[in-house]
Amino acid sequence: MEQTAKLIIDGKTYELPIIEGTEGERAIDISALRRDTGLITMDPGYPNTGSCESSITFMDGERGILRYRGIPVAQLAEHSSFRETSYLLINGELPTPDELNHFSVMLNDHSLVHEDMQHFFQNFPRRAHPMGILSSMVNAVRVFYPEIPEDTSQEAINITFSRLLSKVRTMAAMSYKYSKGHQVVYPSHRLSYCANFLNMMFDSPVKPYEIDEDMVRALNVFWILHADHEQNCSTSAVRLVGSARVNLYAAISAGICALWGKFHGGANQAVVEMLQDIQDGGGDPAPFIARARDRNDPFRLMGFGHRVYKTYDPRARIIKQVCDTVLSKLTYSDPLLDIAMQLEEVALKDPYFIDHHLYPNLDFYSGIILRAMGIPLNMFTVMFAIGRLPGWISQWKESVEDPHWKVHRPRQIYQGKTERDYVPMGERVTKVS
Ligand code: SDX
Repeated sequence: MEQTAKLIIDGKTYELPIIEGTEGERAIDISALRRDTGLITMDPGYPNTGSCESSITFMDGERGILRYRGIPVAQLAEHSSFRETSYLLINGELPTPDELNHFSVMLNDHSLVHEDMQHFFQNFPRRAHPMGILSSMVNAVRVFYPEIPEDTSQEAINITFSRLLSKVRTMAAMSYKYSKGHQVVYPSHRLSYCANFLNMMFDSPVKPYEIDEDMVRALNVFWILHADHEQNCSTSAVRLVGSARVNLYAAISAGICALWGKFHGGANQAVVEMLQDIQDGGGDPAPFIARARDRNDPFRLMGFGHRVYKTYDPRARIIKQVCDTVLSKLTYSDPLLDIAMQLEEVALKDPYFIDHHLYPNLDFYSGIILRAMGIPLNMFTVMFAIGRLPGWISQWKESVEDPHWKVHRPRQIYQGKTERDYVPMGERVTKVS
């Protein structure tokens, strides 16, 4: 028996269908609301609005659950690789050995960037933010591979996905080398996806980079934890831009730009800047907690709070464990980690944070790992983008294949001036300021 919701407007009752997901989530289907009632709904920022039905990632914000294609993210962090998790997100199933090997060969074969693209990198200012470079270069890659929309064979689509997954990693490392005025390090067929990135970032003719398997493992876990997160801001940007049927590269470039914001993926950089401010102020987090509580102060405690999680972000727990592993391996302590742990302890006991269900999110500790790896601060969000790329690709693919596809075009309620006539210049009265 179909479940319905009853809506009474101006004395008339409307029945709206209720749809239920495989995990028991329910939604009121309002797709015929305006046609039947003449009214729309209003939900700024969409906290109560579903944009699609998806089979990729399940989150339960109250219970702190996160699963990719049904597999708990903690199990993937423990047993999987970023390469394998990317395959899972995009294809829906864990790969067989042959499938994973073929995927690895594709990633390797498409890891080089067209030599002509070096000119683009050479003409960015050295201090250009790498997120701006990355979003530009992802669009630029499209220019070098124009065959995408015509050739829709599965192999062509798989090549497009592999090309993006592999080249974005290469271009991120290239942007770092150019920012330092150092020569670019090319990807090596001898190295795995994550080891290749670290080598492209840190290898040098005068100081060869030694692959540290613990660092490679930490980077795999870091990127697995960032790989997807259902309909977050940047994924929604990819779906919205993609709904106009632009090519994948343009949609991904839009996702990179959305992720850049400090209230989204840019928070990992903002957290470390906040921790450095606390350190510079003597190390006492109390003034920052006070500012975060002050409703008249727009300051937000970076790395805390989440639109969906109203408990500890399950990824933050794992990231914190990786932090401890990486720092103990390097036998060095990061004073910012000590400040972060003190800040967390104080905040989690504070009534404001308790009442608002504000807990550390993924970005709170991720910057500590990146610092330990030697990743520069302005590349922190680039690291998030590389991790989120398989999620964006899988969500874009699902939206393109969605039988209920529509161009995303929300409505509005107009609150401006009602109809009035044009006033000739001579009749306009200048406002006395
Ligand atoms: C990511 O959506 C995703 O899944 C994102 C992400 C992913 O993997 O894609 O998880 C990645 O973006 C994580 C979030 C990173 N951003 C930050 O750490 C920035 C700091 N956090 C906040 O700006 C905030 O918590 C948001 C933006 C993350 C979520 O905020 P919401 O859901 O839009 O809620 P809100 O801003 O309306 O806040 C609700 C209340 C307000 O207080 P009241 O006016 O109701 O009294 O909570 C307060 C806010 O003032 N609040 C905070 C706070 N976060 C919310 N107060 C102080 N510090 C904070 N961090």
